[in-house]
Amino acid sequence: MDIGSLKLDGFTALAPLAGISNLPFRRIVKRCGCSLVYSEMVSVKGLLYNSDKTYSLLQSSIEEKPLSVQIFGSDPKEMAQAAAIIEKLTFNQNPSVKVADTIDINFGCSVKKVIKSGAGVALMQNVANAENILKAVRDAISIPLTIKIRSGWDSSGKDAFKIAEIAQKCKVDAIAFHPRVASQGFRGKADWSLIGKLKANLSIPLIGNGDILSADDGIAMMEMTGCDGVMVGRGAMADPFILSDIEKIKSVGKLEQNRSLEEIFSVMKGLLISSVEHFGELPACKMMRSRLVWFIKGYPECSKFRRALTNIESMSQAIDIINEYQSFINNLNRQ
Ligand SMILES: Cc1cc2nc3c(=O)[nH]c(=O)nc-3n(C[C@H](O)[C@H](O)[C@H](O)COP(=O)(O)O)c2cc1C
Repeated sequence: MDIGSLKLDGFTALAPLAGISNLPFRRIVKRCGCSLVYSEMVSVKGLLYNSDKTYSLLQSSIEEKPLSVQIFGSDPKEMAQAAAIIEKLTFNQNPSVKVADTIDINFGCSVKKVIKSGAGVALMQNVANAENILKAVRDAISIPLTIKIRSGWDSSGKDAFKIAEIAQKCKVDAIAFHPRVASQGFRGKADWSLIGKLKANLSIPLIGNGDILSADDGIAMMEMTGCDGVMVGRGAMADPFILSDIEKIKSVGKLEQNRSLEEIFSVMKGLLISSVEHFGELPACKMMRSRLVWFIKGYPECSKFRRALTNIESMSQAIDIINEYQSFINNLNRQ
């Protein structure tokens, strides 16, 4: 799949996940295999006020490229200014390489505070402002521009179809579509039929999103809707290999072998180590207390493993607990 001038190796994307898709997590998913990673949503206001916290969300590494940086806001001028700032960011160690390969605008966030500010899915209600934003941002940057939308405010999908039509007119390069309405949050089911309907009327690439919890789900969405690419969020939190599995099944028809335990525990340790490097030991350990268990949900006695992690404060403590649990599982498998 190509997104404007950006040529991707495949067609899968890690979804933007506020609080989750930070640099360490994106690195891990990228290592497991995926074509494009999205940053957490970045506040345009925070960026223009030079907030350190906002700038920290823009940290990247060459190994995770290509990266889509997602912004949220509601004022066309501010959005354009922020997009131009992001486009100019380069890597310290390689100033000729840009951090962002694409900029994505958030049209889907349904968090109350974001909607109240007129951003996120509120943009799908205010079509005139949405158009002004798209024009302003398009004029401000030369790298590809994408948007991520929901169904909108009712289940017919008419808001999504309208915004997509405007986006195409404003030379947006691709659209990611999560077909749930604003009031749904993440409840109920994503209505994949709307992805198919939108695809039928769109000439730019459409990336389908919502409820892909297994590689087979990803293939099913592509077959059912004809979408050009797939984006996975929560499914990648449970199984960071899901995106590469979708790509493999699509190219060779099936997965050659099951994931080894070794690989799964290596991902777990990789996330821990990368998080410690990025956030510092104690903050990373606090974060990992609830996250390391994501990768082994449903494994024997995984609740014991989770409990053992509850108070970890150092990386060596965490590694010992992981190694102990890994040996326990290996022994079980040998019996
Ligand atoms: C914890 C969490 C954080 C999210 N943060 C963002 C975000 O920053 N920007 C965005 O566009 N969507 C965000 N989303 C929505 C996801 O990108 C995605 O559209 C949604 O989870 C549906 O896909 P899934 O079923 O594969 O998870 C978030 C979802 C979750 C669960």
